[in-house]
Amino acid sequence: MNGHINDDWICGRYGEDEPWMLGAVNPPVFENSLFTFPTVQALSESLADEDEKYVYSRGTNPTVDLLQRKLAALERGERAKCFGSGMGAISATISSLVSAGDHVIVVGAIYGPTTQFLRYLEKFGVSHTTVHTDNPDVLDSVVNPRTKMMYLESPSYMRFGIIDLRAFTGWAHERGLTTVMDNTWATPIFQKPLTMGVDLVVHSLSKYIGGHSDLIGGVVVGSTRLIRPIALTEYQLYGAALSAHEAAKAIKGLRTLPVRMPAHQERGLRVAEFLAEHPAVRAVNHPGLPGHPGHELARAQMTGFSGLFSIELDTEEIAEVTRFVDALRCFRVGVSWGGFESLVIAPALTVRESLRATMGIPLGLVRLSVGLEDADTLIADLAEALKAS
Ligand SMILES: Cc1ncc(COP(=O)(O)O)c(C=O)c1O
Repeated sequence: MNGHINDDWICGRYGEDEPWMLGAVNPPVFENSLFTFPTVQALSESLADEDEKYVYSRGTNPTVDLLQRKLAALERGERAKCFGSGMGAISATISSLVSAGDHVIVVGAIYGPTTQFLRYLEKFGVSHTTVHTDNPDVLDSVVNPRTKMMYLESPSYMRFGIIDLRAFTGWAHERGLTTVMDNTWATPIFQKPLTMGVDLVVHSLSKYIGGHSDLIGGVVVGSTRLIRPIALTEYQLYGAALSAHEAAKAIKGLRTLPVRMPAHQERGLRVAEFLAEHPAVRAVNHPGLPGHPGHELARAQMTGFSGLFSIELDTEEIAEVTRFVDALRCFRVGVSWGGFESLVIAPALTVRESLRATMGIPLGLVRLSVGLEDADTLIADLAEALKAS
């Protein structure tokens, strides 16, 4: 044992040195829509700084604020703003950075509804270009004077490719672009994009950070300069506020996040290694496997791997994919991930074929979220289902 204290291991306690905590081991939950004042003058002063002062919980609430301080500390950002969902955080963040006529560069495959939101912005005159490349210089052919931001997700959606964050953010900054990255997969326990040049990090709290499939929430973290306008404008006007009750659940999730993530990693890697050797599996897209093309880069950028990855079944028959998924007993069919329970989803069964083709997702791709159950049991379940299919 060495005597080094890594504050992230006790990240559940970040931000709790407040007099109003009264030493309570679980922070109080401020279930208030409203905060009142003794005088009109006191209210006016608070309204002038509604992101800092508690006035109305669509703006700020002490329990939500505590969660924000914890997440800012964990991501190494100056400030965080929580939202009622990951998409709430993503849509507010993108909206705050672009105006009519602006252009966005997306690198690689990103979460489907984020792309849908960028398409939605076309009706306000905001365009985007998605480029799949490992080389930032390729982006010179798509950047234009109205390009304002670059949006990234690493590991990438469904195929779990790794993006060189320092190279891409370096390229973006030389051209004056703001960089935004979705860090939901790795969580700040395993990856801290703000320390690698990313300007704003977004998360769905609904996955590993919440950790128990019992809440929907989101956050954006970064500098005060970039977060404050979002907090004062998009946050207030879109109204996607996180409730104190949901924030309290996320705070509980953070207390065990540093314990859960290595457990997801260990189980996920054992399951991935088993599948990589199986003759019915054509490929395993897990950046923690030495054979993954982004493995070395992943090890340089992340300190660990979560339990979400995909496999490609050696088949062109949709019926075989269905038989495999339906034969699983420990993996339940579900669209989300990051909780205790193991989950499975096959885009061939849920996503339109034309859309799947544009996303480059093969028919046999199956996404697995390895939960916290016993790894041997999960492996036995997969072995049986592969036999059945
Ligand atoms: C990578 C990623 N980012 C963002 C989101 C959106 O989060 P939410 O469902 O909390 O809006 C999801 C949800 O599945 C996701 O997988």
